[in-house]
Amino acid sequence: MTEKVLVTYGTTNGSTAEIAEAVATVLRKDGLSVEARPARDVASVAPYDAVVVGGGLYAGRWHKDARRFVRRHRRTLAGRPVWFFSSGPLDPSASQRDIPPVRGVRRAMTRLDAREHITFGGCLEEGARGRVAGMILRSGKGGDFRDFAAIETWAAGIAHELNRS
Ligand SMILES: Cc1cc2nc3c(=O)[nH]c(=O)nc-3n(C[C@H](O)[C@H](O)[C@H](O)COP(=O)(O)O)c2cc1C
Repeated sequence: MTEKVLVTYGTTNGSTAEIAEAVATVLRKDGLSVEARPARDVASVAPYDAVVVGGGLYAGRWHKDARRFVRRHRRTLAGRPVWFFSSGPLDPSASQRDIPPVRGVRRAMTRLDAREHITFGGCLEEGARGRVAGMILRSGKGGDFRDFAAIETWAAGIAHELNRS
């Protein structure tokens, strides 16, 4: 039977949602049945065989919707293969080296026995919400540092694992 996969995310400005959609597209191409949805809209993870959870990074923490999702669904998630990703750095660092998960995500990985975590570069562009976002943009430190080739490669690895099981 086709594996049913949930790709879910916490986002403020939408760039993590686009990463999640890119992951979902690769999984679909590899024959999986995939839903990509905001973490705050997911009522139950029971219908899914596997879950990918992503969150934008804000002040050293995962987006609150991703944190709440993991907390709320921890019992069901613990019985399923789970992958995590973060998106944040507004520089090329995430394409150059492995950036470990922030502490809360690391703990959640241990609790849920998550398969893997990866940090992707982030994106902050004109129109982003919040005073700090405006300050970052005015200081010239915004931009789109998402590496879609790396995102697709990571997603292909997940598809490979799920199609093998
Ligand atoms: C107020 C604020 C705080 C941020 N804090 C971090 C951080 O602690 N670590 C990091 O890597 N990126 C940080 N970023 C960059 C965001 O993680 C990046 O813009 C990300 O792509 C946002 O995801 P979203 O568009 O899905 O909301 C911050 C951005 C803002 C505006």
